Amino acid sequence: MDWLNDLLLPPAKSTLAEQTDTLFWFVHLSSLVLTVGLIAVIVYFVIKYRRQSEDEVTPVITHNNALEVTWSVIPLILVLIVFGWGYEVFMNQQVAPDDAYEINVTGQKWVWQFKYENGARSNGKLHVPADRPVKLIMSSNDVIHSFYVPDYRLKQDVVPGRYTEMWFNAPDTGRSTVYCTEYCGTGHSDMLGEVIVHSQEEFETWLANNSGGGSKPEDLAPEEWGKQLAKEYACTTCHSPSGEKLTGPTWKGKFDSQEQLSDGSSVTVDENYIRESILEPNAKVVKGYPAVMNTYQGQLNEEQISAIIEYIKTLK
Ligand code: CUA
Repeated sequence: MDWLNDLLLPPAKSTLAEQTDTLFWFVHLSSLVLTVGLIAVIVYFVIKYRRQSEDEVTPVITHNNALEVTWSVIPLILVLIVFGWGYEVFMNQQVAPDDAYEINVTGQKWVWQFKYENGARSNGKLHVPADRPVKLIMSSNDVIHSFYVPDYRLKQDVVPGRYTEMWFNAPDTGRSTVYCTEYCGTGHSDMLGEVIVHSQEEFETWLANNSGGGSKPEDLAPEEWGKQLAKEYACTTCHSPSGEKLTGPTWKGKFDSQEQLSDGSSVTVDENYIRESILEPNAKVVKGYPAVMNTYQGQLNEEQISAIIEYIKTLK
């Protein structure tokens, strides 16, 4: 089955992915065999019993017990096999091992945020150790999202107001794409992320370097730090730094300019307006754009906000 997998499915990069694939092929190939068999029988009878002349009489057969039992029992057995087998694979995927490493995941329009036990944070990129069970504890800040990693054959809805869980063990280092597969608004298709599987030592180093939460300001000029933050917090998913029209207004050439607002008034894009737009995005919405941004209150501190403003100033 390996060649079929390589041809039609994404690479299987978690310990449980193969179980899902085997069941997947069983369901699909047995359906294929039944479908082809059924079509063959239909074609055979269509040819065999085609009426040759007007006076031929069709024999009247009311039933055939042996045949009816056969075509009921075979599908019943197949369905029971799929049920039992599916239940086993499902439970394996649902119940995380007790020693799993826990990471908190928050879905928010339109970025995945990850929080670690030691306070480390990451946006869009899920850093995990290789060859160790990892359990994700997931919730949403706004609407329903869905966390989907095709390489791991895992998909789980992420719902506001409750926690959902999922776990995996990726034996090898490497990268896999995370998709949001629940339509969640205009930025849904941009809500991509990545799982980065590190070796144990590499993961420890990453954790230690990020325990303070994100990049460090003291090493960088404010506008450089702001540029990093804008990427890290996915600001640039909706606000292009290059003039392109995305979900939100571009940042290019906006500082010090006049913007028309949706209520008909206008505003000068200065430090105060940008700060307000980050903390209270829907107070003054630029005309022609949807009021869909979430507040970054509690996520970005004042120092980080001013770094982002410094970055916006450089986009002339
Ligand atoms: Cu989040 Cu679609």
